[in-house]
Amino acid sequence: MPTFSQWDEAYRTGEYQQLWGMPHPSQELVSFAAAYGSTAGKVAIDVGCGAGTEAIFLVQCGFTTYGFDQSVEALKIATQRAKDLGLNITFQEANILHVPLADQTVDLINDRGCFHVIPDDIRPDYAKEMARLLKPGGKIFIRGCRDTSNERFHAITDEAIKTYFSDAFDATPVYPLEMNDGTPSLLHGGLVILTKRK
Ligand SMILES: C[S@@+](CC[C@H](N)C(=O)[O-])C[C@H]1O[C@@H](n2cnc3c(N)ncnc32)[C@H](O)[C@@H]1O
Repeated sequence: MPTFSQWDEAYRTGEYQQLWGMPHPSQELVSFAAAYGSTAGKVAIDVGCGAGTEAIFLVQCGFTTYGFDQSVEALKIATQRAKDLGLNITFQEANILHVPLADQTVDLINDRGCFHVIPDDIRPDYAKEMARLLKPGGKIFIRGCRDTSNERFHAITDEAIKTYFSDAFDATPVYPLEMNDGTPSLLHGGLVILTKRK
């Protein structure tokens, strides 16, 4: 896994654009948003928001939106992009294990490529923090590596989701999708939607 200085370096040099960055929101997030229903009065956060592409899309969908990342370099890019588009998004430096928002204030948590870099021993803390933030019925939309043979990531599998989230969440199966990771072959990814129980 990259260290935080390596994340910063990837954003500072622009390398992130070849590795995981996208000029447009992922097609799966667009489909998710289309099926979401009314966003009036709803709060979305993007955990590990990177250069802000998906947070920008969420605010354009009508959510009050926050983007959190530990990379200051990523946040500089995200903040400038939102400013250039005249969009009001709060981008803030934070460890996503300690998000600076009150309990049960969030309707939607978007995570593309962050949970799969969270090691197994830290995953219970991630699940606890997401459960703390979400309103009952709130959702987490996760995308990341599902390939257990890929040693760069901590795979997202049905078993892992059950282990870390079954106490507080109902989960869809992990659906397969292919994700860009900057190599000619696509990253064998997975998508899962978790709903916090009422
Ligand atoms: C693969 S990038 C994905 C960025 C963005 N979601 C996207 O789709 O372009 C993972 C991001 O998670 C951030 N990240 C990893 N662990 C984090 C943590 N514990 N707290 C905050 N940000 C974290 C990294 O700085 C990086 O920007």
